[in-house]
Amino acid sequence: MDLINIQPHCRNKKTPLKKTVTFRGQAAFEKLAKDTFVGARTLLILETAFFREPETLEFVKKYILKFLKDKPEINIIDGACSKGYETYSLAMILDKIGKKINITGFDLGPQAITDAKSGKFIIETIKSNDSLSNTYKMGYSSFDDDYLAFYDKSSLTEKQTEYKCKFSEFFDEIPWRENISFLRRIHRLIFKKLIPDIATKQFQVKPEKSGMCNFVQGDILKLDEIVPDHSADVLLFRNALYHLTTIEDESAKIPLLDETIVRTVKNVVTQVDKALCKNGIFVIGEHPNDHTLTTGKVLYKELENNNFTPVYKNHNDTYCVVWKKN
Ligand SMILES: C[S@@+](CC[C@H](N)C(=O)[O-])C[C@H]1O[C@@H](n2cnc3c(N)ncnc32)[C@H](O)[C@@H]1O
Repeated sequence: MDLINIQPHCRNKKTPLKKTVTFRGQAAFEKLAKDTFVGARTLLILETAFFREPETLEFVKKYILKFLKDKPEINIIDGACSKGYETYSLAMILDKIGKKINITGFDLGPQAITDAKSGKFIIETIKSNDSLSNTYKMGYSSFDDDYLAFYDKSSLTEKQTEYKCKFSEFFDEIPWRENISFLRRIHRLIFKKLIPDIATKQFQVKPEKSGMCNFVQGDILKLDEIVPDHSADVLLFRNALYHLTTIEDESAKIPLLDETIVRTVKNVVTQVDKALCKNGIFVIGEHPNDHTLTTGKVLYKELENNNFTPVYKNHNDTYCVVWKKN
C-alpha cells in the first residue's frame, strides 16, 4: 500500500468577528439540556450506523497492519462516537488481526454514552424517504446498516456478507425493549405513528467481545482531558467537526469563516497533534461536510502546518480523509 501524495488547498478569508465558538449540537445541547431531553438528543445529531463509510475503516486496518506492524498493542480514540456504533465497527474490523486493540469512544452526549456502555444496539429499517423519515434518521440512525439485521445473505454484496458474519460474531439478537425515559419513548412513539414502515430489531454485544471498547463522556474541545499526550495510534473525529459554529448561529448557516473558528480549529489540531504518537493517524469523515465547510478548509491548512500529511482520500478521490502525523 503506497501512501498518497496530496496537495490540499485552503482559502483563508479574514473576517474579524468576536463570537463564542461551540458546536452546532453543543449550543443547542447546552440550551436545551435542562428543558427537554428530547430536544437535546435531537439537536446533537447523533446520526450514525454500523460500518458507516467502511472504506475508511478498512484503510485504518491496512495502515495498522503495514505501518504499525511492530506495535503489539494499538490505542484508538473514537471522538464524537455517538452511541458507539462506529466504535464497535472498528472493533469488528480490527478483531483477530494479531494485536491487542484498545478502543475508547467519547461523545458530548451523556445519553449517547450511556447507550454505548449498555452494549445494546438498535438496527432499524425504513422504506420511506420523505423529510419526516429523514429527520427521524438524523436523530437515531442513518439506516445504512439495516442489511445486517433485515436482509437475506443472498441479496448482499461480498463485503456486506463479510460484515454480517462479523456482526453475528459480536452480537446476539435480543427482544426489543427500550430502556429509555418517558419523554424519549413518547418521541419515538410519535415518529412510529407517523412513519408506520419502520421496523426495529435490537442486539446485545457478547460478553467476550465487550472488552475491546470503553466509553466516556467528553468534549472534542477538551481532548487533552481525555487522552494522555502521545498515547493514541489512531484518532477519529468523523462527521463531527463540521458542527463547529458560533453560539449565535447554532444551526450552522454557512459561510462560517471567522477568526474565532479558525483559532478553535487550530486548538483542535494542536490537541490532536499532542494526543497522537509519531506515525499515528487522524481520521475525519468522508462526507463533503467534513471537508467543504469552514472547519474542513481551515483544518487542512492547520494539519499541514503541524506536519501532517494526507494518506488516504475518499472513494471519489476528492477529500483527504486520513492524515498521518510525521
Ligand atoms: C453525526 S454524529 C457522528 C457520529 C460518528 N462519528 C459517525 O460518523 O457515525 C456527530 C456526533 O458529534 C457529537 N458531538 C458534537 N459536538 C461534540 C463535542 N464538542 N465533543 C464531542 N462530541 C461532540 C454529537 O453528540 C454526535 O454524536
